[in-house]
Amino acid sequence: MSSATVSAGRILRPTRAEIRLSAVRNNLKKLGRTAAPAKLLFVVKANAYGHGAAELAGLAEREKLAWGFGVSSVEEGLALRAAGLKSPVLVLGSLYPFESFVEAISADLVVTIASLDAARQVIEAARKLGKKAVCHMKLETGMGRIGARRPSLLKIYDELAASGDVEVAGLYTHLSSADSDQEYTGAQLSIFSETAAELEAKGARGLLLHAANSCAALNYPVSRLHLARCGIAAYGLADGFEPALSLKSKIVFIKNVREGAFISYNKSFRADRPLKIATIPAGYGDGYLRRFSNRADVLIGGRRCRVLGNVTMDMTMVDVTAVKDAAVGSEAVLLGRQGAEEITAAELANIADTITYEIVTLISARVPRVFTE
Ligand SMILES: Cc1ncc(COP(=O)(O)O)c(C=O)c1O
Repeated sequence: MSSATVSAGRILRPTRAEIRLSAVRNNLKKLGRTAAPAKLLFVVKANAYGHGAAELAGLAEREKLAWGFGVSSVEEGLALRAAGLKSPVLVLGSLYPFESFVEAISADLVVTIASLDAARQVIEAARKLGKKAVCHMKLETGMGRIGARRPSLLKIYDELAASGDVEVAGLYTHLSSADSDQEYTGAQLSIFSETAAELEAKGARGLLLHAANSCAALNYPVSRLHLARCGIAAYGLADGFEPALSLKSKIVFIKNVREGAFISYNKSFRADRPLKIATIPAGYGDGYLRRFSNRADVLIGGRRCRVLGNVTMDMTMVDVTAVKDAAVGSEAVLLGRQGAEEITAAELANIADTITYEIVTLISARVPRVFTE
């Protein structure tokens, strides 16, 4: 913790998310080696899945671990520019309201164009600014989210290319099921490569082609193309990668209760014997989900301690009966390692019937991010 930096003001409350920079560095290096010769588009949307976008993008840029960054909105892109990042930043979302094209072009953000309307708006914004816009077109191949189908994508390309105001620098698509359906993924990739070939036949040259997310980049070599858009593996939440984030706190209150005592809202736990119970100042207001009530474990004194009763907005009670030296000030690990024990994001995701992405992304803004080597 000696080289820790903190992205919030002075921290008093002991709840914090610790992000190990060495883990992110190692993960990005490993992804870079695997995806090569494709380059990495490090996906840092939603505050780098809760890990701290400016800090991690800063690390990746300084150490040349990524070609550029993927964000979801113009605001997220502007935040990276405000943090001094110079690399290409691709806004993966569909821009709306259309005035946001002006902001995006002014800040040298690369915009996604997935409709004819958007194409016309980006041309207009570029003309207004007297500055060439840079875009990647997004092809719908089966994700069903944003993307133009092949016939309209070809029209979009024609309008953009004819305008002279917009550089069409890339073409991409998003794979919906790289982690679950090989055949569907193959079909998505075929539509993509056929469309890329058609664009080339129309005279499009030097387009950056990209389709892979982490799972595809790791498992489908043909999906790597020119750029691999990786998020989750960079944060260590894929097999063979190092988890970077731990959610830690400290015991702030401790008590012994008798058999029959009730704990938390709605008497959601009843002691069936005398227990020693610790209160941790973290709850669903921090992104520690209410679904963990009576089901998740917290590490204290190197042991697993069960959450007792409902997780509340700001506090969670845990059973420390077996931890003889548990006291106010003892460290509590809600996600991550302590001694030989580990609470993984996958374990918490399983309890909450969700995915690891959601577990880390929901860690709320009031939790200070602390960066360590
Ligand atoms: C368009 C797009 N590309 C890439 C990614 C990165 O995916 P992953 O975190 O699985 O690597 C995402 C994340 O959801 C995305 O929306």
